[in-house]
Amino acid sequence: MKIIIGCDHAAFALKEIIKRHLSADGVAVDDVGAFNEASVDYPDIGKQVASRVSSGEYQRGILMCGTGIGMSMVANRYPHVRAALCNDLFSAAMSRRHNDANILIMGGRVIGDVLALEIVKAWMTTPFEGDRHQRRLDQFDDIGR
Ligand code: RB5
Repeated sequence: MKIIIGCDHAAFALKEIIKRHLSADGVAVDDVGAFNEASVDYPDIGKQVASRVSSGEYQRGILMCGTGIGMSMVANRYPHVRAALCNDLFSAAMSRRHNDANILIMGGRVIGDVLALEIVKAWMTTPFEGDRHQRRLDQFDDIGR
C-alpha cells in the first residue's frame, strides 16, 4: 500500500520519524511536506493529502499538526475522506475497525514519538469489520459538505 503523508512545522520532527519507520517496513510513502520547521499553514498541506485520498489516488494518508485538530477539520471536508484524530492506541484501532478511517491524524505536540509509532502500526494493520459499520458509513452519503 502507498501512503501519502503531510504535516505542518509543529509536527515536522514526528513526520520524519514516522516516514523513516514506514519506509523501513517496506511501505511506500509520498511526502508532501512540510520539509523543515519553518512556519507553514496547515490547510495548505491538509488539502494536498485529503484531496488525493478523496480522489482515490491514495488509499490511505497520514496528517499531523500541533494538536491534530486543524488537520482534522480540513481533511473531513473532503468527500470519501474519513479522517480520525487518534492520539491514543484504542482510538487508532477503533477508527479502523468501526470507521474504516482512511486518514490518520495525530498531534505532534500532544503525543511522543514512541506512542505515535505504535498508533501508526495499529492503524496500518487493523482491518475494517464491515457489516453494520458499513451500513453506518453508507449513511454519510447524503450529508452535505
Ligand atoms: C500551529 O501553531 C498550530 O496551530 C497547528 O499546528 C495546529 O495545532 C492547528 O490545529
